[in-house]
Parts: sequence; structure tokens; C-alpha cells
Amino acid sequence: MPVSGAAGPVTRYTDGVERTNLGSNNYLGLTTDPRVAEGARAALERYGTGASGSRLLNGTSQLHLALEAELADFYGVEAAVVTSSGFTANLALLSAVGGPGDAVLVDAHAHASLQAGAAASRAQVLRWRHNDVDSLRSRLERVDPAAGVVVVTDGVYSMQGETAPLADLAAVCAQAGARLVVDEAHGIGVLGATGRGAAEAAGVLAAVDAVTITMSKSLGSCGGAVLTTAALAEGLRTRAVPYVFAAANVPASVGASLAALRVLRAEPERPARVRSLGELLRRELARAGVPVLAGQGAVVAVPVGDDEQVLRAWRAVFAAGVYVNAAVHPAVPRGQGVLRLSVMSTHTEEQLERAVAVVAAALRDTAAPGPAAGPVPAAAERPLVVQLPPDAVPARTPLVLPAQHGPAAAGTRAGAPPGRA
Ligand SMILES: Cc1ncc(COP(=O)(O)O)c(C=O)c1O
Repeated sequence: MPVSGAAGPVTRYTDGVERTNLGSNNYLGLTTDPRVAEGARAALERYGTGASGSRLLNGTSQLHLALEAELADFYGVEAAVVTSSGFTANLALLSAVGGPGDAVLVDAHAHASLQAGAAASRAQVLRWRHNDVDSLRSRLERVDPAAGVVVVTDGVYSMQGETAPLADLAAVCAQAGARLVVDEAHGIGVLGATGRGAAEAAGVLAAVDAVTITMSKSLGSCGGAVLTTAALAEGLRTRAVPYVFAAANVPASVGASLAALRVLRAEPERPARVRSLGELLRRELARAGVPVLAGQGAVVAVPVGDDEQVLRAWRAVFAAGVYVNAAVHPAVPRGQGVLRLSVMSTHTEEQLERAVAVVAAALRDTAAPGPAAGPVPAAAERPLVVQLPPDAVPARTPLVLPAQHGPAAAGTRAGAPPGRA
């Protein structure tokens, strides 16, 4: 559902209606913070609108280097490699880190970018059952003892909000001599005493060999980074294809990220407030009889079930003035759709309490299969394909996605990309 204004606690949508927004990753509310806006503005004025090249050639500015230095300092690591998105950070790291004879072991529900990175690696790729440490152990036993092994997990799962068992994963990796990679896209700015994420909260940050982050959530901007050793960072700068062959992120986004990082470091009360609002939301939903998945961060997932039921509930919530995200397959396993709610440090307690009442009523009203509750928003009715006038229809067969993405695969997992959204 497109917005027509900034994503704040109350957001205007393209139907002109303002709704309480519990569907944004702007966890710290920094997309409209004046200091962050000033960081973007100053970068724009000094460096212009684009980076005009890849990081390796001419696209690196002093600002990119300043952001890398501050991120490395924040995480207490030797180096940071800033990439144009969080997706690219994962793709760059995992596609480059393993070679033939090595093994990359990925949680089965890890983010799509981690799965894509593993798939692009020349190493053997194995998946272990989601958040199941015994399953990881049994996969590790299958790996050639001479292989270099990388174990990959999300810190906080983006759709269902649960955290990885990082203390156990770190212990298993230490025992097996495996390296551990943790994606802190939803952990940075939220979990841990200083907001460095799930590994900090679990007390195992020092045991993580590479952390990946995105600037597109708590840091209110766009871009990603790999935080690791100087040696690995240097390797990525020349060998990671998505770093070498993609334009650097635009100066305004780097300026905003740097300013947001400084706000995060100066104001640890922001992550603390996100955590306490997340707790409040979980508690109040449970009190209203709404089931909630376990979690600790900004993402609060309400399990609903099949896709149709999720969409019915979503429409009812939306019609009642609250925006949440409908997470359906393949963002979550088939049949395990959720309403994904997420808090911002700038929400008020009253906004959350009102949203709880709306969600509880929507779930009650839409529990049994039946006609969609409430009006379907206009934008959702827009066709998903571009309608060409008849004389513009090309004679050649149009480029289409492989058949497994079509209805033929309904009811199977065959057509689904392996990762989660
Ligand atoms: C767990 C996780 N990793 C990586 C990404 C990718 O980050 P970005 O949106 O900055 O490319 C996301 C965002 O959707 C995410 O949820």
C-alpha cells in the first residue's frame, strides 16, 4: 500500500487517509529526525545527487570512509565495508567467502539475501532446520573435516520476529571450528545494551566473525555494511562482485546513515524505548486474547494461518485505521501467515493500545472464512501487469518467469525461493 508521506507513527496513504503505522522498519523514528535530514542535505550539497561509480573505482567518497570508520568503531571490529544495500552486503560477503571444498551452512528460514549469497557461493551449501541447534550439529558432522565452514543466521527474523539462539550457535561454531555470520538487519538499533543487535544482547558479539547490517531500518536511510576483520574487508573490496560491479550508495543516504549512527550512539534510550514498546505491544495483544509469537525486538508477529485469512484480517485492520504488514508465503512458511506489527520509538502507548483493540476486533470478525471484511483499498485493485494498447502488444513471446512461479506449483514448495522476505 503506497504511502504519500513519511513513515511516522501516523502515516498518510495514497487514499488520503492517515493511519497508525505499525508496518514500518523505521524503528528509531529517524527518517524524519532533523539531524539525520541535515546529514543527508549536507552530503547532497557537497557531493551531488549520485556517487557516479562503484566503490572500487571512483564512487568512494570521504563520507563512505567516515561511515565505515564509525561503524567499525561502534562494533569494535577492525573494518567495515559499506555496500549499496543490506541485501548487497549479504550477497557480497557470502558469494565471496567460500570456495570449492568449503561449506556454507544456512538456517532454512534465513533472509532471502543470505540464501542468495549462499547460492552464489562456490562452496557446498547446506541448510539446517530453523533455529534448531541439533540440526546444525548434525549438518556439521556431514561436512568434510578439511573444509572451511561458515555458519549463517539472521539475528532477528524479519517476519516472525523471533531471535536466533546465538549463544548456542556460537558455542557449536567454536566447537566445530566454524566461522559465524550474523545478519543484524533487525537487531541494530533495537537489541543489546548499546543497540548493536541480537549478538550483543546474547553476549556473543566477540564470537561473531562477520556481522552484516542494513541502514534501511533503524538508521533511517539506505545501504548496508559488513563488519569484520581488516583482512576479510580488503578481500571483499576486490573480490566481492556486488561491491565491485555496482554503483556506490548515493551521498545523501551515506550522510543520513552517518548522522543516524551518531544519534543511535548518543541516545541509547531510543533502542530501550523500542524494546519496551515491543514488550507492551506483546503484553497488550496477549491480554486482548490475540496470540503472539515469542520475540524480543521491534517486530511483533500475530500468527493467523493461511494466506486468505491473513489478507482478510489485514483488510479489516486497514479499514479500521491501522496499517500492519501481511506476511504470507514465501515470506513465511506456507500456512503460517502472520500479521507483522512493528513499533517505532516514536509511537505513543495510546497509539499501540488503540491498535491492539483494532487487531483483536479484526481477528474476531474475520476468523471464519467468508467475504472480505471492510472495503478493499483502491490501490490493491490495481492490475499487477502493465496494460498495453492492442497495437503495442509485441509479436514475440514475452519474457516470463519460469513455470514454477505460476499456479502449477500451488500447494508445493517447489516454486518458492528458499529464503524468507
Ligand atoms: C534480515 C534482513 N537482511 C537483509 C535485508 C536487506 O536489507 P536492505 O533492504 O537494506 O537491502 C533485510 C531487509 O529486508 C532483512 O530483513
